[in-house]
Amino acid sequence: MEAGKTLLRVLSGNAVWPPPLWLMRQAGRYLPEYRALRERAGDFLTLCTTPELAAEATLQPVRRFGLDAAILFSDIPLLPWALGRPLAYEEGKGPVFPPLRSAGEVAALDPARLRGAMAPVLETIRAVRRELPASAALIGFGGGPFTLACYLVDGGAGEFLATRRMAREEPALLGALIDRLTETTVAWLAAQAEAGAEALMLFDSWAGLLPPALFRRFVIAPTARIVSALRELAPGVPLIGFPRLAGLMLGPYASLTGLDAVGLDTVAEPEIAAAVVPAKVALQGNLDPLALLAGGSALAEEARTIALALRGRPHIFNLGHGVLPETPPAHVAELARLVRSL
Ligand code: CP3
Repeated sequence: MEAGKTLLRVLSGNAVWPPPLWLMRQAGRYLPEYRALRERAGDFLTLCTTPELAAEATLQPVRRFGLDAAILFSDIPLLPWALGRPLAYEEGKGPVFPPLRSAGEVAALDPARLRGAMAPVLETIRAVRRELPASAALIGFGGGPFTLACYLVDGGAGEFLATRRMAREEPALLGALIDRLTETTVAWLAAQAEAGAEALMLFDSWAGLLPPALFRRFVIAPTARIVSALRELAPGVPLIGFPRLAGLMLGPYASLTGLDAVGLDTVAEPEIAAAVVPAKVALQGNLDPLALLAGGSALAEEARTIALALRGRPHIFNLGHGVLPETPPAHVAELARLVRSL
């Protein structure tokens, strides 16, 4: 580990003041230079799978704001796409898949395709590592198996009723899908670490849709399996989980998965989260993206309140969810200045 990378120091359990800073969705449409790149690529999937363009998108926010981490420019639905599921991006709707409802469709998800389909993404990681400032760490990522299952089973964003019904009415089928996604996520994240990702994050954005017993079965158990497999395959690479809207299940999630850090969503109160998460697990978050969008004194006050509440704990400053496309880049610059001068 390079001593200069504060993100990695925090992820190995040290409190650092002021805390390191990066933002979920730090690369994206709020940046004019991203919009130009996206136009050059034509469509989003092409941008994700063209290493020189994806590396540039990864580096843009780090260069502009001097952030402490870069997050690989890619997307969580790329894993099931790489396993053979057709993926489209519809304007304003996000990722769309043909709904997956049968055991045959689960069995057809083909791990043998993974390496080939993902080769450009691994090349992006190598390209970013060549250019990243010495103080910034590169984070690789994947979707939590349950969140990936939500997009696959329902076919696109919404209330994910088909997935939630499957959890109750056909648990063996959802279990088989989640097993397949768990195994391939291990391979996918291990490959990212091998290519040069210095930390790995699991985005389980829809984890909070499940009641406790199903949360344990379809969120905590597969996450724990991913963590223990990666301890063998990518030793020393810290692991962050983001069980969005987990509420009171954050404590069991943090204690039972073995993760090095957990991301706090917008509704988690930092003091309460700090009380239920084991002290050795780092906390990441959790400024409201709408405070960043609004800017001004509320942004400054809320950012300071979060940082002070978690001072003395291993803490990575971040948002509670992604940067909104309407956010003025000047507000991000202001947040970076604020956190630096705490
Ligand atoms: O800067 C970064 O965070 C790096 C890359 C990244 C993207 N998506 C790029 C992206 C990461 C880490 C993600 C994670 C992701 N993707 C999640 C988990 C986090 C969360 O937001 O809850 C989820 C659920 C997805 C699935 C996804 N991809 C959705 C729902 C959407 C549509 C919403 C939107 O903002 O358009 C996407 C598209 C997407 N992923 C874009 C980007 C930059 C927008 C693409 C474009 O139009 O240019």
